[in-house]
Amino acid sequence: MSVAPSASTQAAQNDQFGVRPLSPVMGAEVTGIDLSAPLSADRFGQIHRAFLEHKLLVFRGQTLSRDEILGFAGRFGPIEGHNVRGRDGQALDALHSVSNVDANGELSRTPHINANYYWHSDKAHYEVPSLLTLLYAVELPPNGGETEFANMERAYRAIPDPLRTRADSLRVINDFEYAMVNAGKVLNEAEKVPSVTHPMVRTHPETGARSLYIGMYTKGVVGMPEPEAQSLVAELMGHATQPEHLFRHPWQLGDVVIWDNRCLVHRAVKNFEITRFRRVLLRCVVKGSRAV
Ligand code: OGA
Ligand code: MN
Repeated sequence: MSVAPSASTQAAQNDQFGVRPLSPVMGAEVTGIDLSAPLSADRFGQIHRAFLEHKLLVFRGQTLSRDEILGFAGRFGPIEGHNVRGRDGQALDALHSVSNVDANGELSRTPHINANYYWHSDKAHYEVPSLLTLLYAVELPPNGGETEFANMERAYRAIPDPLRTRADSLRVINDFEYAMVNAGKVLNEAEKVPSVTHPMVRTHPETGARSLYIGMYTKGVVGMPEPEAQSLVAELMGHATQPEHLFRHPWQLGDVVIWDNRCLVHRAVKNFEITRFRRVLLRCVVKGSRAV
């Protein structure tokens, strides 16, 4: 006869460090960790290994100060600055909020930071793109408002040949303005930044796994006419974002989520009453290495 664990046994189990996979596609919940307390090198090593294995980690029920958020993210590498400007016209702080308010502070269907609702890897428009992003849930709608992720390693492996072999040899042109215009934003001259190029298929610097590296910033392909490049990118994104490569995180207040921008793309899902409920997350980004 099996005996169901009592509530107290379950609470005790939750106090213990553990890594519980959330789906076969990616993602694990880390239990028994208070990120406001100091993390030993051993414990951080376990978290780091889980991060490489699962690509996305969830830490529930956290209560963190700004310094504690930056302190935890900073264990993975240097905290990155931002070229995106806030509602006040100034570059965002290293730790900033993402929310559904527009330039006037009103809840909006096209919020000030609207690009998050399109598939992308963070800072793919930088020469040296990011390693990971951390989000911490501060205010949430009662339903919906998830973040959706695609596993670009699985996506890469599933691209049919000869398309995959073709992708292996290409370089993409990523452009900030292109992405912003597609997200409905007009940039002034001071906000524009030069395009960069990256391999269309990159190799993870820590695991050696190959993944497709495209998204909303991908304006072109080196040596290819733009319309042809954009239809190739759209075709590949269609492959990449099929349901079998996806994971959705349903947010709870106090969740900290970190994900690996070197092998995932993500987007916010506009499936909630966006003009009625506030959705506010604190965010910081850790700098990575050149995509190769
Ligand atoms: C981001 C982002 C998605 C979300 O912060 O980089 O894309 O769900 N956020 O808010
Ligand atoms: Mn993002």
